[in-house]
Amino acid sequence: MKQGFLWGVAAASYQIEGAAHEGNRGPSIWDTFSHTPGKVLNGDTGDVAIDHYHRIEEDVKLMVELGVNVYRFSIAWPRLFPQNSQSIEQQGVDFYNKLIDTLVAHNIEPVATLYHWDLPQYLEDKGGWASRDIVYAFEHYAKTCTELFGDRVNKWITLNEPWCTSFLGYYLGIHAPGIKNAASAVAAAHHTALAHAYGTRAIKAVAPNAQVGITVNMTNLRTDSDDPETKLNWQLVDANQNRWWIDAFTSGKYPEVLVKEYGVLLSQVFQEGDEKLLKVDNDFLGVNYYCDGFVGKARITDRPMNVHSPYPINRTANMDLPETEFVSRTDFNWPITPEGLGNLVLRINRDWSEIKSILITENGAAFNDGPNEHGEIEDHRRVDYIHSHLESLRHAIDLGAPVDGYFAWSLWDNYEWAEGYSKRFGIVYVDFDTLKRTPKLSFKMYQKYIAQTRLALNS
Ligand code: BGC
Repeated sequence: MKQGFLWGVAAASYQIEGAAHEGNRGPSIWDTFSHTPGKVLNGDTGDVAIDHYHRIEEDVKLMVELGVNVYRFSIAWPRLFPQNSQSIEQQGVDFYNKLIDTLVAHNIEPVATLYHWDLPQYLEDKGGWASRDIVYAFEHYAKTCTELFGDRVNKWITLNEPWCTSFLGYYLGIHAPGIKNAASAVAAAHHTALAHAYGTRAIKAVAPNAQVGITVNMTNLRTDSDDPETKLNWQLVDANQNRWWIDAFTSGKYPEVLVKEYGVLLSQVFQEGDEKLLKVDNDFLGVNYYCDGFVGKARITDRPMNVHSPYPINRTANMDLPETEFVSRTDFNWPITPEGLGNLVLRINRDWSEIKSILITENGAAFNDGPNEHGEIEDHRRVDYIHSHLESLRHAIDLGAPVDGYFAWSLWDNYEWAEGYSKRFGIVYVDFDTLKRTPKLSFKMYQKYIAQTRLALNS
């Protein structure tokens, strides 16, 4: 880790803001989805979330106490453009101005994500990410945000985890908008990649010195078999989750193996000239890493891969980590595999020479520890999780991986999408009844880690 390393925390609008009906905010697909019975655990919605909308001062104070120099937040598209793609809502602008100004006043650099899943409902009604029109709506939105905030925001993330948008949202239907259609999912995968390129160019046109990237959720994908079928399955999953959006902006092409597999699903939305439109220079790659993935030889008990790692291809493989490997798991049942983070960034460095800078834009774990009798939250498992991932990253950086920042997910316990409030990712505990914030032990560990690393770099 070198001087100037970005130490941060991350969050997203719908997961924290609440105030769903204030400031003339319009409905997003997540409002619709979460209010549809049976879609989200316990019927939880983001109507109130953790009420960050009314608690900017208090929340930024926590960041100051933690010692971070960057905060990654997302702008809610339906706060800025509640009714249509043209009329800006000033109250939405005021809210983000207040947040950005408060951060800047405390020497915390704002890193803005333009799209973290809360699509205005009126855009979904016109086809959402499955329709090419969204690309131009996003381009306009990106341009407007840069004009409004670009004097203080210099780092922009166009889209967060377009894989989730496309395949959880339009194929498995477990995220908003809850559609289950292979053609829509592949169309969304193409349109998100295009939107990223259009968005990047729109930002740069307004602010040529801005730094722009996309955040993808990647996994260190392993296999223990090289029989041809398993190898092909591994390549398909890797192409679908790890390579699609990166290959698109670095080369204008999607992984050959997947283009073949998707066939007409892709060719019907991929227009002539799109190769050129997809390719764009970026300043960094944002990587969200939670755990390793695995593709092994199919066993009799295995279910189709598209159930585990949703993509519209019906093949069967073993997607559990090998039984011989002892791994602890988070309360989400995700395996804890810290070496994977280091291996992943080394792989990115090997495979894409165009990527000169990587930001770990999310890393964290769901552990539901609550307060003990003294009101303290001793989340030892999260302490270990974050610490071991940071050490893995440090090692990879020593080996040459160009990682320039790390953002813990998340500062606060918050709304965990289809899981509602049942999964806690925060380093700050939030009592969901009173909304009181209490730093956990992991907050103190991260605070110390940042301070000690800074001290070592300065000495
Ligand atoms: C998303 C976050 C989410 C986290 C934990 C990522 O997929 O960007 O919004 O809360 O992982 O599931």
